[in-house]
Amino acid sequence: MTSVATLQPDPAPIVACTISRDVQNFDLLIDDMELELGESWGDLSFEDALLFLEQPDSATLQFVALAVDGRDEADLTRITDIIRTAKAKGIKVILIADQVSPVGLHQLLRLGADDFVPYPLPDGALREAIARLHSTPAPEPAAPAPASAPVAETPHLPTPSFKAKGDRDGVVLPVHGMAGGVGASTFACNLAWELATVAKDAPRVCLIDLDFQYGAASTYLDLPRREAVFDILSDTSSADSDSFLHAMLTFNDKLHVFTAPADMLPLDIVTAEDIGRIIDMAQANFDFVVIDMPTTIVAWTETVLSRAHVYFALMELDLRSAQNVLRLVRALKAEALPHEKMRFVLNRAPKFTDLGAKSRVKRMAESLDIDIEIQLPDGGSGVTQANDHGLPLAENAAKNPLRREIQKLAKSLFDLNKSVEAGKG
Ligand SMILES: Nc1ncnc2c1ncn2[C@@H]1O[C@H](COP(=O)(O)OP(=O)(O)OP(=O)(O)O)[C@@H](O)[C@H]1O
Ligand SMILES: [Mg+2]
Repeated sequence: MTSVATLQPDPAPIVACTISRDVQNFDLLIDDMELELGESWGDLSFEDALLFLEQPDSATLQFVALAVDGRDEADLTRITDIIRTAKAKGIKVILIADQVSPVGLHQLLRLGADDFVPYPLPDGALREAIARLHSTPAPEPAAPAPASAPVAETPHLPTPSFKAKGDRDGVVLPVHGMAGGVGASTFACNLAWELATVAKDAPRVCLIDLDFQYGAASTYLDLPRREAVFDILSDTSSADSDSFLHAMLTFNDKLHVFTAPADMLPLDIVTAEDIGRIIDMAQANFDFVVIDMPTTIVAWTETVLSRAHVYFALMELDLRSAQNVLRLVRALKAEALPHEKMRFVLNRAPKFTDLGAKSRVKRMAESLDIDIEIQLPDGGSGVTQANDHGLPLAENAAKNPLRREIQKLAKSLFDLNKSVEAGKG
C-alpha cells in the first residue's frame, strides 16, 4: 500500500484506492487489496480523497473502495461528496460497509456506488466485486445527479385495485433453493401465476421476493423495482396493509408482486420481526402467499419456516444439493425447528425412461432420509426464454413440460386448500 496523498510520481500506476476515516479499522480490506492489486493501490483519508480525486493523478484510478462504518454515518455529506466526485470522473465506487444502517446504506447506494460488499469481507468478495466492475461498461464522466433527486417512478404502473380488508388467512408457501441456480425463482414465479389463474374463482395470490440482493421476480415477470418497497422494508413498524399493498405491482391484473427493492441490499437489512410483520400483512389480504427465499440462510429464515404451511426446498440431482440438504436438515433438527414442513422438489429431474438416473434419485432420497415428493422436468431453453421475456411459462410456452407439472401442483394445492376451508366451515 502507498499513501497516495503524499505520493511522488510512482513508476507503478495506482489503479485503485481505499478511502476511509482510518484504513486500520478495515485491516481485512488491506489484506484483500494487497492480494488483488499488489502495490498498485493507495489509501486516502476522507479529507484527502476529494483533493486527490480533483488532481490529474487520479486519472489512472479504475475504482475506489470506500470503507464506511457506523461512526461515519454522522458525516454522510463528506462521503456523498466523494462518491459524486468519483462518479463525475468516471471512477467506479465499491462501498465497503461495516454496521451501516439500512437507511445510510440506501442513501450511499442511491448516489451511485457501483457495488456493495459488507465488512468483514466474505472470502473472495472483493475479487468478485472487482470482476463485476470490469464486466460493466465504464460510466461516462457525467454531471452527478442532484442530492435529493427523487427516483422517478414509471407512470401507469399496474398496481393492485382492491382495498386491504384483512379478511383472508393466506397459505404461506416459501420456495428455497438448496444451492444457487437450482430454479427456485422460476418455480416461485410460475407457481404463483398458476395459482392466480387456477380457476374461474381464482384465489387472491401474492408473490413476495425476499431475495433482496438479486430479486429475480421482477426480471422474470418484467416488473420494475420500486422505491416504495425499500420504504416498507426499512420501516415495517410504520407500514400497514394499505402501504404494503401500495408497494406491490400486479402482473396481468391477477398476480400481486412485492418485488425486491431497486438497490442491492444486504439480507440483514430486515429483522425476524420485520419479516413476521410482512407475512402477517400478506396473509391477512391474500389466499396464497408465495415467497422467493434467498439461498443463504439468514436470521429470519427460521421465521419464514415457522410461518410456512409448506416449505418448498428446490434441489438438483447433484452432490452440491445433496450436501446442502443434509446440512440444512441437520441444523433444523438440532434446533428443533419444524423440518417436517419441508417438501423436497427435484428440479431438472431425469426422465422416467432414464432408469439409471431414476435409481440415483432413489438412492439420494434414501441416503438423505428425505422424501422427494415432487419432480420437475427439464423444460429446456424455453424456460430461460420465458424468464428473459418476463413472462410466466403459461403465457409464453404453455405446453412446456415444466409448466404442466407446476400447473398440476397449483391445482392440487388449490383443491387441498378448498377442502380444508370447507372442513373448517
Ligand atoms: N426445469 C427447468 N428446465 C430448464 N431450465 C430451468 C429449469 N428450472 C430453472 N431453469 C433455468 O435455470 C436458471 C436458474 O433458474 P432460477 O433463477 O429460477 O434459479 P434460482 O435457484 O432462483 O437461482 P438463484 O440462486 O440465482 O436465486 C434460469 O435460467 C432458468 O430459466
Ligand atoms: Mg432465485
